Amino acid sequence: MKIGIDLISFHTPSYVLDLRTLAEKRGVDPDKFVIGIGQERMAVVPPDQDIVTLAANAALPLLDKAGRDNIELVIFATESGVDQSKAAACFCQGLLQLPSACRCIEVKEACYGATASLRMAAAMVAARPHTRALVLAADIARYDLASPGEPTQGAGAVAMLVSAHPRVLALDPETGFYTEDIMDFWRPNYRDEALVDGKYSTRMYLTTLLEAWKNYKAASGRALLADHAHFCFHLPFTKIAYKSFERLCKAEGVPLPSKEELDRLLEPALLYNRQTGNTYAACVYEALASLLDNAPGQLDHQRIGLFSYGSGCMAEFFSGVVQKGYRQHLFTDAHRAMLDSRTPVTYRQYEDIFNYGVPKDGADHVFAPYRGGPFRLAGIKDHKRRYEAK
Ligand code: CAA
Repeated sequence: MKIGIDLISFHTPSYVLDLRTLAEKRGVDPDKFVIGIGQERMAVVPPDQDIVTLAANAALPLLDKAGRDNIELVIFATESGVDQSKAAACFCQGLLQLPSACRCIEVKEACYGATASLRMAAAMVAARPHTRALVLAADIARYDLASPGEPTQGAGAVAMLVSAHPRVLALDPETGFYTEDIMDFWRPNYRDEALVDGKYSTRMYLTTLLEAWKNYKAASGRALLADHAHFCFHLPFTKIAYKSFERLCKAEGVPLPSKEELDRLLEPALLYNRQTGNTYAACVYEALASLLDNAPGQLDHQRIGLFSYGSGCMAEFFSGVVQKGYRQHLFTDAHRAMLDSRTPVTYRQYEDIFNYGVPKDGADHVFAPYRGGPFRLAGIKDHKRRYEAK
């Protein structure tokens, strides 16, 4: 039985900061951001959007296309949770009018949460093949202003419908994972901004990539280049995809492909992240959407290698086979139109939005409407978040 991603849809906020603007303000050569880390723009999240609205905005087109019948599981992966108790998936169940005979939960392991969710969803569908599962991944990447992490901020959400008749990507059962208890990136409950040891986290990302690959290779017997047509990596910044691929080639004793071949293998998956910045849990699936939407040739029957990394840390290398006719089930035009129609913000507007503090004293609050998708956070009343459809 094939199990995998039936539909995949991506959403990012309607405001964006050009990293050249940030570089000028910080007195940094813009090439450091654009070439050195490989980022051009980062999504800026207006006060009336949060992970719930981002995910609901990602899921709506997918549900409008596929219907809501037999969706028995909604898993929401995030490290930007809005409540310590209620799962973000429950808010989405209401907003998206999903069936009430449905399990709704939230999952966390830094940027890895969506991969664990996808595997759990696949296991449920394997046990009950007439049912479907919705995996939502949404995050807002925030670091301190003027910190090294600042240019790697971003935001976005991915929604994936998992079924036993996947029209987009059938997951291979073989997978390789690796975990280690480390402190490379974390966010204590009292902070809105993540703490990170950037160089260490990059080193651990690359180390765990090799461990996860080794376990995947042992499980699948597949070769790096002969068996994988493209690769999607977790993308805290896009340059890491090149570093990752180089590491894998070196570990396998494969000569590094030419620059043209490297770009052909990696670039289509990087296009969206370069424009949104880090979307944490959603990242590797944003990369998959970007690859499917933008690969120049047809990918039917081709195997994609995927690497998911969550700080703390958890890593998994896995793969899937693109299904025949996948192109007609993508949201390519909507994704491109969304990215092209974003409103650029000035540095001042970015800083104002960054510092816009939702009251933490429990006071009621009403949010002015900003540009965005169909769902927004209207306000907080009696400690309850009030969402609305526009
Ligand atoms: N022109 C071209 N390139 C330039 C340049 C210029 N003028 N100036 C610098 N560069 C290059 C540097 O040579 C370097 O390239 P290499 O890594 O290939 O040597 C690159 O730009 C970055 O320069 P620095 O290392 O000096 O940058 P930095 O000290 O400001 O830190 C960072 C970069 C570590 C990524 C930092 O942005 C950071 O901490 N980000 C947040 C954490 C992070 O993204 N960690 C990644 C793995 S953890 C993870 O995956 C989980 C997650 O999502 C957070």
